[in-house]
Amino acid sequence: MVQHIQTQVMQVNSEQPEAATIEQAATLLRAGRLVIFPTETVYGLGADALQPAAAEQIFIAKGRPYSDPLIAHIAELETLQELVTEVPEVAYRLAKAFWPGPLTMVLPASQRVPRLITAGLETVAVRMPGHPVALALIKATGSPIAAPSANRFMHVSPTTAQHAQADLEGRVPLILDGGPCTVGVESTIVDLSGEFPVILRPGGISLEALRAVLPTMQPPVKRSKEQSEQALKAPGQMLVHYSPAVPAFLVEGDHVAMRATMLAEIQKYQARGEQVGILVADEDVATFQESGAHIYALGNAPEQAATRLYAGLRVLEEAGVQVILCRSFAESGIGLALRDRLLKATGGKVIHSMLL
Ligand code: TXA
Ligand code: MG
Repeated sequence: MVQHIQTQVMQVNSEQPEAATIEQAATLLRAGRLVIFPTETVYGLGADALQPAAAEQIFIAKGRPYSDPLIAHIAELETLQELVTEVPEVAYRLAKAFWPGPLTMVLPASQRVPRLITAGLETVAVRMPGHPVALALIKATGSPIAAPSANRFMHVSPTTAQHAQADLEGRVPLILDGGPCTVGVESTIVDLSGEFPVILRPGGISLEALRAVLPTMQPPVKRSKEQSEQALKAPGQMLVHYSPAVPAFLVEGDHVAMRATMLAEIQKYQARGEQVGILVADEDVATFQESGAHIYALGNAPEQAATRLYAGLRVLEEAGVQVILCRSFAESGIGLALRDRLLKATGGKVIHSMLL
């Protein structure tokens, strides 16, 4: 049983965080306690990365298996040198281009990194977040901060302090509320420990942007459900992840076919007396206005959809729907990360629409 504690939520200015608020949070972290804080991607559940007992609290609070390694968040490039055995030239190039920002680099871990952080792997994942609150907090703590997304294990990542509170109230002493996250999907994780740089998890920095700096960057390996469940390199990469509490399906196909298929699916569920939630683009809303489905509009650009996806899944979940249908988006740019998260939210359940 996890002990219930009082959770305080403090507002913090996301551009110029108040020093007193940051100090209060940093004091907790130095004392080995947990603090939820905003980053530009999603909210993080932070603990001092160099205190194993503190990092252990993260796994307990989330209900996360110890086999799933954590990202160490840093605020200065020098800290990277302490956490890894050697910083290759490509890491400096990527850091110069994308840090602070939504990029995580996997490199051989130094002795300083607790095994709990790496889940026993030889490598450690490191990121310098772009959010002023996150940077101020890491600096004030004076130590790297280990932080997974601040959700219960297997649930949707939080893009607001309220999402994090809904999942972890009573399990953390403090939540810093810096408003909604701007990127909305997690960082891109690149593995620089092997022969070729490869994306382990698509995210806030696109494959195209990475290749502009490092042309040899390899796209994520496509895995079947079975393979991904056995994947040991990045255990958090299993297909069922970031999931809403209700079954979801990704609907693919060209515009016209996709809308027709979604309408037919909605009717099918309604005929059984079930409530349907749909995640669509703004341009689709008119089509579904009379359908009786709960509609959550994600915007039209993939960037907007990435920012709103997790909030949309939570809203539909809370509306009490029995099934969620998601439209698909183009795979370029952030679209790759968006598709990855949609596939994870749906557990790989795809409906291929065909013109009748
Ligand atoms: O944007 C983000 O990355 C957010 C914010 C809070 O920074 N964090 C985040 O953490 O998404 P989390 O724990 O939900 O996902 C981190 C994933 C793990 O599931 C694991 O797959 C991968 O990072 N990872 C961590 N260490 C690794 C390592 N040494 N090798 C390979 N993958 C690793
Ligand atoms: Mg996560």
